[in-house]
Amino acid sequence: MRSLQPKLTKWRVPVIAALALGSAAITAGSVAYFDFDHQAPFVVEKLPLPHEQLWLLMLRTHVVAAALALPFCLALLSRTLLRRAPRAHRWLGRAAGIIILAALCPSGFYLALFAKGGRLGTVGFVLSGAIVVVATVRGVRSACAADFAAHRRWMLHVLAQLSVAVTSRALLFAFDAADMNADVAYLLSLWLPVLASAAVVEAVVPQARHVTRAVQINRELPSLELHLPHTSQGSMIHRLAILIVAALGLSWEPAHALRGEPSVSSSLPSASTPDPALRRELPAPAPDDLHAAALVQEKVVWPLEAEYAATSQFGRGRLPPRNVRARMLAAAARGDAAGGAFVPFAIDECRGALKTRKGDGDACEWHRDTLTGCVYPKSGAVFVRRGEETFPAALVHGVKVKAAPAYLCRG
Ligand code: HEM
Repeated sequence: MRSLQPKLTKWRVPVIAALALGSAAITAGSVAYFDFDHQAPFVVEKLPLPHEQLWLLMLRTHVVAAALALPFCLALLSRTLLRRAPRAHRWLGRAAGIIILAALCPSGFYLALFAKGGRLGTVGFVLSGAIVVVATVRGVRSACAADFAAHRRWMLHVLAQLSVAVTSRALLFAFDAADMNADVAYLLSLWLPVLASAAVVEAVVPQARHVTRAVQINRELPSLELHLPHTSQGSMIHRLAILIVAALGLSWEPAHALRGEPSVSSSLPSASTPDPALRRELPAPAPDDLHAAALVQEKVVWPLEAEYAATSQFGRGRLPPRNVRARMLAAAARGDAAGGAFVPFAIDECRGALKTRKGDGDACEWHRDTLTGCVYPKSGAVFVRRGEETFPAALVHGVKVKAAPAYLCRG
């Protein structure tokens, strides 16, 4: 059978570079989780959580462990390190093993309980984490037993699952650009890379076993080169590298688009430039309604615009939309249980970079009611809903706020 070594050698460096770049982008995005005065959008998205402080601790543990684990595993692929400094390889391997088993996976398992995508999301993360745990333990044991062929095979499984962090974000970006349903996109971008990564290692490594066994018999440390049985596996790695690099390149674009576009708020229904879609839905606004709309714009839309502009494009959180608009949901104010007068509103977001042109509000694929809330025109107070709870609107720009009394915005 023809060896694919030359092909793999060609793609080895781009794949490792793409994963290293992806890891750096994820780590850069994770810095936001250590701003103790400001809640990152991924955190706000999750609220309310039953044990918020514990979840935050797990998230911070997870992202620090992740920032080290993937680069360490990539460094462990180095043939030069293996040949010239086998002790360094062993120590780096031990460090990576401890980080993975003591921090990355336990924290990941806890986060999985609250992951997006419901039960299927939880199961997907737990499956990936379980493969990592089993493969790490067996990889370490086989290294201790000097079974280097098995060691390499298990460690490639570990690396393959860790690479899911990068490939799944690349897929999330692509699916968002295609305006796929967010829940379906989240699940597909988790399950596809988890299964594909495991399948690729399973398909590729058994053929290499006898080669490295020979190396083991010679009592040498194994080379990390792969001798592949079939050309299609080479092209799989080809595609993987192209996908990651393309997504990384593209992923910075919408933030710039949002920053460079005429302000998001310019597409909003406002007193001076009413949105035609809104005009069709509501009668001509009275002065009080204009005041309410202006409050929503000032306290929800502009802060949202600022948050989106600063949001990492390479995270598991919701990707920034192309455009945002607010809709007032009632022509006249309603009364709550305490006698306050409020006007409910909804925020819509335009998504699907591949389907819409920049700044073209009417051509947008609008996702309605991505956020709802209400405004009290008299006091100027604005609230947003998260699950069953109501919070002051400052929540949308990351301010830590307590849930508001339940009667607000209800009536
Ligand atoms: C080195 C590989 C990994 C990296 C770089 C990584 C990175 C991250 C980061 C930065 C987040 C926060 C969300 C974001 O900003 O995108 C996160 C969330 C998460 N990670 Fe990991 N992670 C890795 C491996 C794992 C593993 C092996 C598991 C499985 C146990 C896992 C499970 C989770 C879960 C469940 C979440 C929360 C997702 C949600 O709430 O929807 N991660 N990861």
